[in-house]
Amino acid sequence: MSNLRIGVPSKGRLSELAGDLLKQAGLSFRRQERSLFARVGEMPIDITFLRTDDIPVLCAEGAIDMGLTGSDLVAESQADVLTRLALGVGRCKLALCVPDDSPIASPSQLAGKRVATSFPNVTRQYLAQHKADAHLVDLGGSVEIMITLGVADAIVDLVETGSTLAANRLRVLTEIGKYESILIQNKARRESELADRVVRRLEGVVIARSWSLLEYNLPRNKLAEAEKITPGFNSPTVNSLEDPAWCAVRVMVRRGEVIEVMEKLEVLGAHAILETQINNCRL
Ligand code: PRP
Repeated sequence: MSNLRIGVPSKGRLSELAGDLLKQAGLSFRRQERSLFARVGEMPIDITFLRTDDIPVLCAEGAIDMGLTGSDLVAESQADVLTRLALGVGRCKLALCVPDDSPIASPSQLAGKRVATSFPNVTRQYLAQHKADAHLVDLGGSVEIMITLGVADAIVDLVETGSTLAANRLRVLTEIGKYESILIQNKARRESELADRVVRRLEGVVIARSWSLLEYNLPRNKLAEAEKITPGFNSPTVNSLEDPAWCAVRVMVRRGEVIEVMEKLEVLGAHAILETQINNCRL
């Protein structure tokens, strides 16, 4: 049996997120300064630090068995890998953008124009589908300034909050795709049992991060209404209180919905509504 090799971004946004996620899932490692490799303490796993955009190809080629990267980079590289898990972070979209004041109203009007991007493969495919015979300007980065520089008439770039577009007076013409950070695996599935354990461990943390545990006391005659507000992952746990007219409810709630749910429960007559963060889970 040889060690499972996992590729982790060496720098950039996903680097820190990936390290935290693996650590929380019990896959801790210590990276010596500038070192390319690290060993996970309790399991036969080697971590290799790589450029995020090289991870899809290196995984497809078998240099690593698994990797954490962006689904945008998998799409662009056309690497033939398995997607095992969405990590719930790094959500963004790839969009075709034009200047705020541009008269261009649809992709087909880009015929004969120049489109700058660092996603040439995805862009070429999209333009072909929309019968837009545009000239592609393939760049490594800083695509958002290419219209100002007179290099392009439109760009295809990642949009997260939209602030880069606003700062460069650009607007989204159409959305090309939605992407996020993912865990990928080589199709040969080497060391498959260990790889599946890694997936389950990371999944436990990813799910835990997107849910909270909510507990509250409620007049028993309001239970049916409360269950509509908090149906839970499977169903709520309901316990008796000393006062038979009341009960205690424990239920999982999507983290982004907690505050609104708390308000609704309060209006319904719930007391002592408590939110607890879940660190890890197996569901
Ligand atoms: C990405 C992308 C945009 C920006 C979008 O760049 O290329 O420039 O983020 O984010 P926003 O909508 O929140 O402004 P990144 O910072 O990853 O660096 P890059 O220029 O190397 O791509």
